[in-house]
Amino acid sequence: AELTDRLPVVWLHMAECTGCSESLVRTAEPTIDSLLFDFISLEYHETLMAAAGWQAEHNLEDAIKKYKGRLILMVEGGIPEGQSEFYLTVGPHGTTGAAHCRAAAESAAAIFAIGSCSSFGGVQAAYPNPTNAQPMSKFTNKTVINVPGCPPSEKNIVGQVLHYVLFGALPALDVYNRPKWSYGIRIHDLCERRGRFDAGEFVEQFGDEGAKKGYCLYKVGCKGPYTFNNCSIERFNQHTSWPIQAGHGCIGCSEPDFWDTMGPFEEP
Ligand code: SF4
Ligand code: SF4
Ligand code: F3S
Repeated sequence: AELTDRLPVVWLHMAECTGCSESLVRTAEPTIDSLLFDFISLEYHETLMAAAGWQAEHNLEDAIKKYKGRLILMVEGGIPEGQSEFYLTVGPHGTTGAAHCRAAAESAAAIFAIGSCSSFGGVQAAYPNPTNAQPMSKFTNKTVINVPGCPPSEKNIVGQVLHYVLFGALPALDVYNRPKWSYGIRIHDLCERRGRFDAGEFVEQFGDEGAKKGYCLYKVGCKGPYTFNNCSIERFNQHTSWPIQAGHGCIGCSEPDFWDTMGPFEEP
């Protein structure tokens, strides 16, 4: 592609841990440098851009103006809303994250909520959600494509951009606005431990003989039967591993409200 054809992308950081950006930079096909130089023009990304301070703020304002109607907006993190907006401010004027999201969404041709935080609120939205963290879909009337996971794999992040580059269209979505090509598969159906489940061979507690033999993790909390994501095929870190291969059950990290309803977190 010609340099002038590169898609202008703004990536906003809200209330999050930057794990989704960590996942992004591990992309292999294409590599992150090829993605940045050949396919997209990354106008703003707080952890990857060279600019800082006033210059960075101007870059964001300029990109929102210059690419009106053409901008690709990617948001990482939950967004404090309403009377809690001030819990997240960016830059010297104390602009709220919510204001940045609304302004960028106005210019956007496509909006992607990257990670479970911006898709559904995320861990900081766990009960009682003290900062009133909300998903990106609350801040615009446009369609927000949710790319959940904590984090989503690099394939599921970069794949959404490349789908847009190649087809100039948004992907088919499921009931939670997740792209079907990434989230159409149930973890349990293609899990490498599924044969163990079917044979009734379960890990009873972490570290036991069954754990050493790679038995099914259902009895130690695996939520693979209720979770839709392609981790069992695509894995993470360039196909190296994924939670269940590493010996921990799935915690349902790509499902809405997993932090309150699925993760085996202990009550204090
Ligand atoms: Fe971090 Fe998970 Fe939120 Fe991504 S979705 S920013 S990995 S907490
Ligand atoms: Fe299903 Fe989890 Fe067992 Fe895999 S480890 S077979 S996803 S219950
Ligand atoms: Fe998340 Fe479960 Fe995959 S915890 S990374 S959806 S295996």
